[in-house]
Amino acid sequence: MTDADPPQYGVGDASFQAAGGEAGIFKLVNAFFDRMGSDERFAPIYAMHPDDIEVSRDKLARFLCGWLGGPKLYREKYGSISIPRAHEHLAIATPERDQWLTCMTETVAEQAFDPAFRKYLMEQLFVPAEGVRRRIAELPKLKR
Ligand code: HEM
Repeated sequence: MTDADPPQYGVGDASFQAAGGEAGIFKLVNAFFDRMGSDERFAPIYAMHPDDIEVSRDKLARFLCGWLGGPKLYREKYGSISIPRAHEHLAIATPERDQWLTCMTETVAEQAFDPAFRKYLMEQLFVPAEGVRRRIAELPKLKR
């Protein structure tokens, strides 16, 4: 690869690096929860979180580090996780999924990320967000 080649997001730790590594991801997640907690549009999903939001910040930031190809920090501290299963106890349908994605899109837009990485990241995040929604929609069928 020469200096002129764009980073191959999704290969190795390219995405983790594009997000600014651990410091960049913790900064993103802190800004995400600050926004969620201060904007009425996101009040319904903010209210689903535990009172101690610090744990939620730590969990999401650690998860995203590994998910973007960096160190598996979530697993180191909290063990293994399935994102759809971790949300089964919550009332998340399309409006709640879209609140989460809108809050994240607006937060990502404010980070010093490459525009191509912003677009890539939001396309990638749609997949687990939709997976959460679908899992919860299908729960009544699964438990029958
Ligand atoms: C679809 C919209 C989503 C909503 C409304 C949502 C909301 C929540 C809430 C309320 C919690 C706290 C649950 C609790 O402690 O009882 C949580 C936990 C968590 N969420 Fe989400 N979430 C969404 C999507 C995502 C996505 C797309 C990811 C990852 C890319 C993610 C990663 C996590 C992680 C890692 C935890 C911690 C789980 C644990 O350790 O138990 N969430 N989420």
